[in-house]
Amino acid sequence: MALRNIVKEGDPILTKKCRPVTEFNDRLHQLLDDMRQTLLEADGVGLAAPQVGVLRRVVVVLDINRETENVDEQIIELVNPEIIASSGEQYGTEGCLSVPGIYGFVTRPEEVTVRAQDRFGKTFEVTGTGLTARCFCHELDHLEGHLFKELADKLLTAEELDELMAREAEGEA
Ligand code: NI
Repeated sequence: MALRNIVKEGDPILTKKCRPVTEFNDRLHQLLDDMRQTLLEADGVGLAAPQVGVLRRVVVVLDINRETENVDEQIIELVNPEIIASSGEQYGTEGCLSVPGIYGFVTRPEEVTVRAQDRFGKTFEVTGTGLTARCFCHELDHLEGHLFKELADKLLTAEELDELMAREAEGEA
């Protein structure tokens, strides 16, 4: 396994549509292993292949709702994913490892079901709610060459977000 460099906003690779995976070989497994490691190292909740410079339909998502002691088991690998059902609505902040220090308010479905293939080509379905549903949408958007900023109705710096959170906490007290 190896850490891969995370591509930042401004790099044209982040605006391109990714191609499907057709070969479930060692090269794909290496990519997935590296993406898992890169995601954990960056302390993120999701990573799409174009973010490490690979224009293929591959995503890893950290499902923090999955109860296990082993963080490795919380990572969902999605190859050629597509959203087959979604319901509800959530409005909240979102960020991206390719857009460091910037957060935006984005409306997403509350629950999302994805059909994908695993690293061996076997098709499966997975349903996520809350943050995981948001993450599925965000990462799949990357595969189409889209960033969350395009959907955000308000963008904040980390400092502005902290201030907002502090104000909201005071309001609730
Ligand atoms: Ni992102």
